[in-house]
Amino acid sequence: MLDIQNSLAHPLVIRREDYTPPEWLVPETKLDFDLDPATTRVTATLSVTRNGDHAAPLRLDGAGQKPMSVTVDGVAINDWRIDGEQLVIPLTGAAHIVETQVEIAPDRNTQLMGLYASGGNLCTQCEAEGFRRITYFPDRPDVLSVYSVRMTADKKHFPVLLANGDPVAQGDLEDGRHWATWHDPFPKPSYLFALVAGDLAVNRSSFTTMSGREVSLGIWVREADLPKTDHALKALELAMAWDETTYGREYDLDVFNIVAVDDFNFGAMENKGLNIFNSRYILADPDTATDYDYDAIAAVVAHEYFHNWSGNRITCRDWFQLSLKEGFTVYRDQGFSADQGSRAVKRIEDVRGLRASQFPEDAGPLAHPVRPESYQEISNFYTATIYNKGAELIRMMAAILGPQGFRAGTDLYFDRYDGTAATCEDFVTSMEEGGKVDLTQFRLWYSQAGTPRVSASLSHDGDRATLRLAQQVPATPGQPVKSPMVLPLRVKLFGAESGAALTDERLVLFDDTLDSIEFEGLAERPVLSINRGFSAPVVVESDRTAADLAFLSAHDDDPFARYEAMQQLMLDTLVASAGGHADHEGVIAAVANTLAATDLDLAFVAEAVLLPSESFIGDQMAVVDPDAIFRAREALRRDLGTRLEAQWRQAYAQGEGQPYAYTPEGKGLRRLRTVALGYIAASGAADAADLAFAQFDSADNMTDRMGALTTLVSSESEIRTTALDIFYSQYCDNALVLDKWFQAQAQSSRDDTGAIVAGLAEHADFTLTNPNRARSLIGAFGANQRAFNNADGSGYRFLADQLIALDRLNPQTAAKLLPPLGRWRRFDSARAGLMRAELERIVRTPGLSKDLFEQASKSLE
Ligand code: ARG
Ligand code: ZN
Repeated sequence: MLDIQNSLAHPLVIRREDYTPPEWLVPETKLDFDLDPATTRVTATLSVTRNGDHAAPLRLDGAGQKPMSVTVDGVAINDWRIDGEQLVIPLTGAAHIVETQVEIAPDRNTQLMGLYASGGNLCTQCEAEGFRRITYFPDRPDVLSVYSVRMTADKKHFPVLLANGDPVAQGDLEDGRHWATWHDPFPKPSYLFALVAGDLAVNRSSFTTMSGREVSLGIWVREADLPKTDHALKALELAMAWDETTYGREYDLDVFNIVAVDDFNFGAMENKGLNIFNSRYILADPDTATDYDYDAIAAVVAHEYFHNWSGNRITCRDWFQLSLKEGFTVYRDQGFSADQGSRAVKRIEDVRGLRASQFPEDAGPLAHPVRPESYQEISNFYTATIYNKGAELIRMMAAILGPQGFRAGTDLYFDRYDGTAATCEDFVTSMEEGGKVDLTQFRLWYSQAGTPRVSASLSHDGDRATLRLAQQVPATPGQPVKSPMVLPLRVKLFGAESGAALTDERLVLFDDTLDSIEFEGLAERPVLSINRGFSAPVVVESDRTAADLAFLSAHDDDPFARYEAMQQLMLDTLVASAGGHADHEGVIAAVANTLAATDLDLAFVAEAVLLPSESFIGDQMAVVDPDAIFRAREALRRDLGTRLEAQWRQAYAQGEGQPYAYTPEGKGLRRLRTVALGYIAASGAADAADLAFAQFDSADNMTDRMGALTTLVSSESEIRTTALDIFYSQYCDNALVLDKWFQAQAQSSRDDTGAIVAGLAEHADFTLTNPNRARSLIGAFGANQRAFNNADGSGYRFLADQLIALDRLNPQTAAKLLPPLGRWRRFDSARAGLMRAELERIVRTPGLSKDLFEQASKSLE
């Protein structure tokens, strides 16, 4: 027996450079499930073929189970052995039929990986390495197999039996059980396997593909939730049509099913023909879901659907290539969402998200390249870097190639690698050939971690101007020295007096440590607009004055750049003010100007007038001072609230009493309304709490109700408790809405948030067994800068306690919530010491999972 502590002290590190092709292939797989929550018997019949000239035995991955029987070519054998968690079977020929039988216990599976029970139903999650918890198999993404699945289950409890591909046959048995068989003609890796058995109702529609294939679409949920599935179904139809027009990609089976489950470790999963979703990304109606939820549902439904080509038809050779499917698919879903509503607002939201999660990751102890070199636990690499920075890499290539070149590149990629397990390199090569460009240096984006910093300075002399650029890529763990990267920067100059464009937009490919770019024929003093549309995922430091930033926030013709100028102005103001130099005038004037503009989309206005988050302000400081940041931000909010009170009230009144509609205009109105309400409350206006309560009370939709509740939850008013109680009694039977109740309180800016959150962890409705619930309290609290970073260390201790408890049930979800503790280097020595002490306590915990061990031990380095 291996000592667990010892094995954790020397964890197995998997390295990209060690990749070798599989020794055995499995062209066909037959699975037979005798389903039961307590004991499910799985019989796997694998046709295996030797891959190449070698004498190695067959090695099948397992996790936790024991083989009950093993046969080779129909004959029981007993010369198999167990090596670690692998089943090793000696084989002599070039091809054999290997059959194994195991028993597993879905209802004791709290990790929610493999086959597990959720809300009385049975479902699976196999990515990345969950399939080995179901049966013995070469559980790696480059072993593609054609699956036939037979399921037998009690008909009363599990009337619906679903698996990948197309249904083949079904029938009843004597003892109240029934069976169904499914066949998926497309060879797929084991991580895309799925089955569902349960008591489910379906919302159906159909879609005719561009070549005339009639596809039956179904969203399966518990009966009572059926009315909440229309939005997701509509989004699926839109996504299918969008992928045909935008990428020429068509669906390839006769059925496409989606199942929603309440207990799920992440958002959703793209299993071939049978996507399984966290119910929060399917269920919506105006009374229970916010506009944000509606948008997220459409985005995730599209994301998983798009994986059918970018992920399933072409999968990953090994898990180091994860961004091949995730980065590209995020880029695709971002394009889809941009086409459904406001392109500018979508870009602002995506950049906000990148800065909130990926930039800190890239600047901290868990930084890793988009194509990592090593890992201990692959589940820890489903990160903002792989997903969101990965998407930015695709976006940059699209910018370099232009729309036609990019489409030629993706056509070539889909054509050349269809049916294979590919690499990031294969994608880049396709872009080079399709777009006829050289991406040699661009490849550094895949191998170098860290967010590049660009300093930009524009000088001008008569009718000429020079833009001087410098880049620096910071050191990250294991990568002390970096080379300069290719940064596609969209640049344009505006006239400081006229506000008119002085140049066309230029795409500058800045690929050296230093460079300078000349502009000629300028009629007046130029103001620099740079990294327009956030064309490169970098930090830009420029010498633009507050006046220039205010000018751009009013005159730039790229809405993103306009937003960005305002953010920079706000950031500069807040950082100065956290350091004791408060001058709010520039920001107040710029915000007033934006509120007064009549040509702007209201959703854009709402985004533009929002102050940067506390954590983003902290990222600009040498040592993060959460209390000073909070005070500076609140002071600016108060000034903006009082000085512009009339404008906020006007914005607030706009659209008052309009009936709810999920339209771009309706969304914009509601978003601006809630932002305005926040500023009115910040002003300290005597009627603010009453105003918020009235909105809370009369809202005909969850967006307005939550907007009001969020404002109330941070207030000192007594009405706060009344609203929370009303909300609770109204929605305590709806898990997804109750998550919002927990989350709103964990995000509160009140002084007593730490104590409130500790109390909520003892609430009867709090549980660590449901990942959504755990995230709604613990995750939201870890992101609450002020409460979490309380100087007494209580926030750090609370998080560590919860993670240690959660790790025993669900290591993946625990590990995902650890990163806030890893930010210790960014804080003063007292806080850093307290955070380190908690990380050390986690690492020393007996029986810790390798998921949490990897994250905690790396965070200490
Ligand atoms: N592939 C899924 C997606 O669409 C997510 C799977 C996450 N798996 C994990 N082990 N974290 O993004
Ligand atoms: Zn994905």
